[in-house]
Amino acid sequence: MVMASKVLDRVLVLEMVRVTEAAAISASTLIGRGDEKAADAAAVEAMRAALNELAMDGTVVIGEGERDEAPMLYIGEKVGSAIGSGPKIDIALDPLEGTTITAKAGPNALAVLAVAEEGNLLNAPDVYMDKLAVGAGYPDGIIDLAKSPTENVTAVAAAKGVAPSDIIVCVLDRPRHEKLIAELRGIGCGIMLIPDGDVAGVIAVTDPDTTIDLYMGSGGAPEGVLAAAALRCVGGQFKGRLLFRNDDERARARKWGITDLDYIYDLKELAKGDCIFAATGVTDGSLLDGVKRMKNGTMTTESVVMRASSGTVRWVKGEHRKAQ
Ligand code: FBP
Repeated sequence: MVMASKVLDRVLVLEMVRVTEAAAISASTLIGRGDEKAADAAAVEAMRAALNELAMDGTVVIGEGERDEAPMLYIGEKVGSAIGSGPKIDIALDPLEGTTITAKAGPNALAVLAVAEEGNLLNAPDVYMDKLAVGAGYPDGIIDLAKSPTENVTAVAAAKGVAPSDIIVCVLDRPRHEKLIAELRGIGCGIMLIPDGDVAGVIAVTDPDTTIDLYMGSGGAPEGVLAAAALRCVGGQFKGRLLFRNDDERARARKWGITDLDYIYDLKELAKGDCIFAATGVTDGSLLDGVKRMKNGTMTTESVVMRASSGTVRWVKGEHRKAQ
């Protein structure tokens, strides 16, 4: 059982939803406008302003990039209205997970946030991560990144009591996954190819309605930590291994204190102790509905906020009216 964090208690769990709502509403003005950068910038600005209203001493540990590449919500940036006096909180965030999705009005764009006590979220460099996830209810250790996709599918199929060909795997649609896809097709799996948005893709394994059994393949390491935080709250297993394309990326990892570059991280090593995960839909998706604009300027949002120590998952529908 995960001990409830007194530090997190002092930050209202539901306040996290205000933060992701603000980012989602702001990004939603740019859905389908073909401008990824503008959509991202709108989300970043709104999320930062909302974070700065919370009475905490927050530090962005996963953010928009390093200080020299991101003007706002860069790694190491302090946020909150009680810096130096409030509870020390580490924040992993992606104000707009799915910039291309938003620009093209596709499914599953989210505003996402995870918070934990200082030191409890992996400071993942902005490199790729090989990811493997399965939903709740399977024996511990059933998935293993050191094993082949076929071995993982076979193990999950046996535990589920079905044939490997009955298993559905979610994979990012990328040329780099050609070999993985061919292997999965070879054993007859169903593959749900997603164009972007692997935070939602990983979380989808926890929801039986999606029919997705496993998530496989590489995507952003920061997104891996965010997805791991969500699975800490709702159950399921996740393994992640950082992938490096060059020495610069290896140097980035070392800068954040990572010495074993081939290490396979488990859920609890990516997001330790108690943590809170919150997300608001920007566009409609498997997890959440997107922002909708109604008559008279009213907007509706759908969000989820969950906490590891209690396992509570709250679905929050918001109606945002123009002040009269
Ligand atoms: P953005 O929000 O930066 O557009 O990320 C979308 C995303 O699809 C992530 O969900 C995923 O982890 C990553 O990009 C994959 O990276 P790439 O597009 O380079 O394959």
